[in-house]
Amino acid sequence: MPKTSPPTTCDATTGPTAGSPGSPSKTRSVRRRLLAWYDTHRRRLPWRVKPDETPDPYRVLVSEAMLQQTQVATVLPYYGRFIEAFPTVRDLAEADEQAVLRLWQGLGYYRRARNLHAAARVLVAEYGGRVPGDVTDLLSLPGVGRYTAGAVASIAFGRAAPILDGNVARVLSRVYLIDQPIDGTDTRKTLWRLAEDWVPVRRPGDFNQAVMELGALICTKANPSCGDCPLSGECEALRAGRVSEVPVPAKRKRPVTVHHHIIAIERRGQFLFEQRPTEGLWSNMWQMPTAEEVTAQAKAAALRAWIKSRFGLVARVVKPLRLFTHQTTHRSIEFHLWHASAMSGRLRPRVGVWRSLGKLDDLPIANPQRKAVAVLKES
Ligand code: ADE
Repeated sequence: MPKTSPPTTCDATTGPTAGSPGSPSKTRSVRRRLLAWYDTHRRRLPWRVKPDETPDPYRVLVSEAMLQQTQVATVLPYYGRFIEAFPTVRDLAEADEQAVLRLWQGLGYYRRARNLHAAARVLVAEYGGRVPGDVTDLLSLPGVGRYTAGAVASIAFGRAAPILDGNVARVLSRVYLIDQPIDGTDTRKTLWRLAEDWVPVRRPGDFNQAVMELGALICTKANPSCGDCPLSGECEALRAGRVSEVPVPAKRKRPVTVHHHIIAIERRGQFLFEQRPTEGLWSNMWQMPTAEEVTAQAKAAALRAWIKSRFGLVARVVKPLRLFTHQTTHRSIEFHLWHASAMSGRLRPRVGVWRSLGKLDDLPIANPQRKAVAVLKES
């Protein structure tokens, strides 16, 4: 469909284009139905307030950072602990990064934690410790993209800013029967355009949360509850009997498989832990010494040489213990856990710390390394 033609209704096979909104009457109906549904079905969540209360923008920012790519049920305990430790922007800005990472450990995507911490410092330095309500200001903060800026502006400040996350994209692509891969550039533009068209001036924060809530509770990826959906009368995918076909998933590249060899180096009941570099995956977090360059076929002798050159320690026994896989967005990591003991030599300065496995609370440790610790404890 040429972009110059301005259709106001949707073509049933192609959906609206990036330049054309859905029809105004449909948009009005969607707003009315969704807000009415949200008023009776909204979940009580700790970052949400009662209709007559004003949300704390800092809490909204924290919750939205945690909710990126993470489900509400997973976030709940982390959110509670985080807000208790850092109740204000200033508390977070003054915190040590390791303390922030410790409270995030297990939640994954640790870059979010570092960005949130950096954002708090910018807020104190440049905004008097307040979260701004303006989308452009919000977008200038570390880790704040269009989604988070829209969520904070609408939920905490009542600005009619759109949001687009996985749940919203699913709802939109079903209502308008958008049957192109969900990550295509044109599809993304169309979805943002529709999200912008939908968000009302009155109650934009409730409306945005209502769309996400519908995606999480009713318009689910598998087995959606179309019979309970307030938008069933508006849904073109339902009308066409194609709900299970949309959204069309992004074509994912096959993840690359890499091999990481974790070596549990034990001396007198204590294990060696090292801090990861400041850049890259799990940056600044702690781990047992892990060799990332070697292949799946690492030999005990090669690992002994690696331990000697890196830590100055001579291990006499290196034995394989367990293999497990960890999936990241682009990689499949095969973790090979080894045990090294009977040590001589002196640990080089500042390359690591000795810890007993029961006393690791002060070290932020990412999930796969925590799994390795659990394996050691039970073996
Ligand atoms: N996912 C991301 N933000 C959310 C919110 N405010 N409510 C429910 N689900 C969400």
